[in-house]
Amino acid sequence: MSHRISPSILGVDFTELGKVLNIINESEADYIHLDVMDGVFVPNISFGFPVIKSISSHIGKPMDAHLMITDPDRYVERCAECGCSMVSVHYEACTHLDRILSHIREYGMKAGIALNPHTPASVLEYSIEKADFVLLMSVNPGFGGQKFISSTYRKIEEVRKMADRLGLKDFPIEIDGGVNSDNAGKLVNAGAGILVAGNAVFNAPNPSEMIRLLKWC
Ligand code: DX5
Ligand code: ZN
Repeated sequence: MSHRISPSILGVDFTELGKVLNIINESEADYIHLDVMDGVFVPNISFGFPVIKSISSHIGKPMDAHLMITDPDRYVERCAECGCSMVSVHYEACTHLDRILSHIREYGMKAGIALNPHTPASVLEYSIEKADFVLLMSVNPGFGGQKFISSTYRKIEEVRKMADRLGLKDFPIEIDGGVNSDNAGKLVNAGAGILVAGNAVFNAPNPSEMIRLLKWC
């Protein structure tokens, strides 16, 4: 299966949001990546469900919500009401991860486990089978435009090996943070299935061309 692209709107000019959504709609993007932050789990606040609800009526791509919030179970239902297709929650933010993953699936959404850069792949051992994808942070979560952390390559390989060992064929590994046209090919070769890109896409002279470049790298 070829890899997929999930452009992140975290760093865009929000007075231009309609235009940004049109660019994504007309591009080869597979999803739209929505970074929800609460100012507690990460040192930043982005946007929440009223904004996602508005986006939902203008976007033609599945919504990939990345919840960087404490106790994310409180908002699983809101994600479903907004029409999200994928919801990732942080391992570091969930006391009852197994229960939350089931909860996300009960609403018919794909459940993802997100790991911070310092969190080892081994913590996935008893929960990966309850997930539909894993999101590996390749920067410290909270901000767009940061430098890619290269130990991510090793972690992708570890998750891939674990998934293969457990018989999870083509298990999607999403990479989030500092993805650009220089590292995209190497990430895909290491086993990444979904690439999130914010800065690389929306600071490019031609964002839809950059989405195409990342997709066919
Ligand atoms: C960071 C977010 C990312 C961010 C990626 O906490 O989870 O999705 O928007 O932005 P870039 O691609 O600029 O690193
Ligand atoms: Zn994200």
